Amino acid sequence: MTESTSRGKFITFEGIDGCGKTTQAEMLLELLEKQELSISFVREPGGDPISESIRKLLLHSEEIMSDRAEALLMIASRAQLTDKVILPHLLNGRWMIADRYADSTLAYQGGGRGLNSTALEEINYFGTYTLKPDLTFFIDISVEEANKRMSVSRDRIEKEGQEFQQRVRDFYTNLHTKEPERVMLINGENSIDAIHNEISSIVSEKLIS
Ligand code: ADP
Ligand code: TYD
Repeated sequence: MTESTSRGKFITFEGIDGCGKTTQAEMLLELLEKQELSISFVREPGGDPISESIRKLLLHSEEIMSDRAEALLMIASRAQLTDKVILPHLLNGRWMIADRYADSTLAYQGGGRGLNSTALEEINYFGTYTLKPDLTFFIDISVEEANKRMSVSRDRIEKEGQEFQQRVRDFYTNLHTKEPERVMLINGENSIDAIHNEISSIVSEKLIS
């Protein structure tokens, strides 16, 4: 990084499956691209050839996977993506939007599966090269509404059921309470356009102005 290049901003989208994250992440990307900002989009698990191979194993494996193996694979995929894609871009001054990042492991493998959160935080710290998002949007909807929005073909984790998704949602709600400056709680049951307007105002206020 040259002295004149400042690090790009890192924005993440989080929430239970079907909450509308991808829709909002793509709309924000399009808006910021129109403003001629240098910006890229990635999704987790995935976003790089090695991470995409790990994604297939994680979401479509027919074998029974241990909860700890699942957590470690999520974080292995993240380490690859962070080192090879996210950090090089940020250090070049490019902004990055990620559809899920480290909070997903705390919410799904910690909140959902019940793995020890201190252990997960430590491995996440290692796997992210200590990178933290500048801003996170937690798109919050009820489990019932998410269930209606999700497609019929579901991956291994989406098949876990409503109680699992409720624990994940509760984890995100607590995360917003613990880190209100970073983790913005957005009511995902509003219209797509209303949510987009709210998100763009927060980005302008917190990261652009
Ligand atoms: P996620 O990435 O969180 O799984 P998606 O963005 O793929 O969710 O959205 C899941 C489905 O819900 C899609 O069919 C999408 O068009 C729809 N959807 C997204 N946001 C809303 C909203 N605010 N109101 C109604 N439907 C929505
Ligand atoms: P994906 O199809 O990308 O779902 P979504 O559109 O809801 O993001 O699948 C990702 C799945 O992996 C999703 O169910 C959440 C889960 N996941 C974890 O359990 N832990 C993690 O660390 C990450 C990144 C994802």
